[in-house]
Amino acid sequence: MNDLNTADGQKRAAALAALDHLEPGMRVGLGTGSTAEHFVTLLGERVKAGFALRACVATSERTATLARNYGLPLVDLNDVSTLDMTVDGADELDQDLNLIKGGGGALLREKVVAAASARMIVIADSSKLVNCLGAFPLPVEIVPFGWKHTAAKVAEAARAAGCTENFTHLRGGEAHPAHTDQGNLIVDIGARCIPDPQRLAAALSAIPGVVEHGLFLGLARVALLAGGQGVRKLGQG
Ligand code: 5RP
Repeated sequence: MNDLNTADGQKRAAALAALDHLEPGMRVGLGTGSTAEHFVTLLGERVKAGFALRACVATSERTATLARNYGLPLVDLNDVSTLDMTVDGADELDQDLNLIKGGGGALLREKVVAAASARMIVIADSSKLVNCLGAFPLPVEIVPFGWKHTAAKVAEAARAAGCTENFTHLRGGEAHPAHTDQGNLIVDIGARCIPDPQRLAAALSAIPGVVEHGLFLGLARVALLAGGQGVRKLGQG
């Protein structure tokens, strides 16, 4: 049973609802974060009970470890031609299923895996649904070389794209910067509200030193949002 009065209970309920989208023999991308971990755990229990999956691909080392512990058939992304479905959480989403991801630092692999999938299903508690993306700081993965210059250009791109605020923060701080699974750094943009996500995404992608950003635009087809009254579905598929 899920306690729908708690955020964690809602995350688990959304993960449980995603299991209904599975079919035997699928190749499934596994997201990162606390909601995705509920999905991995529930999927592991289902596989243990006899449900046959062809392959799983993890979006982070942390998810890979969890998937291995649950006996999921983990493969390298290069070993599959495509994935049938990826199930992942989000830090924020809007009604058009545009997302901010990367709060857990896995945005690069998450985006590569989502792009390699026939469809992406987002699972989240309903607090993640917003009118304007950007209250959650937007993660941008950058190379360590010359990171201060890149971070300054990232802040300038946010300003030029009309964001309500545009300061950047190196995740973990200069003394102990956080490193991604790819060995890169993350700067988070405090934007408050991103009025034109497409414009900011294009500007960020054009900056030398930026590896990827956490705006997932047009990638998710369905979102399963759990609130106090149960799970509702946004989108088609
Ligand atoms: C990790 C992510 C996560 O999906 C996002 O941070 C949501 O996490 P949670 O399910 O713990 O709220 O993008 O990089």
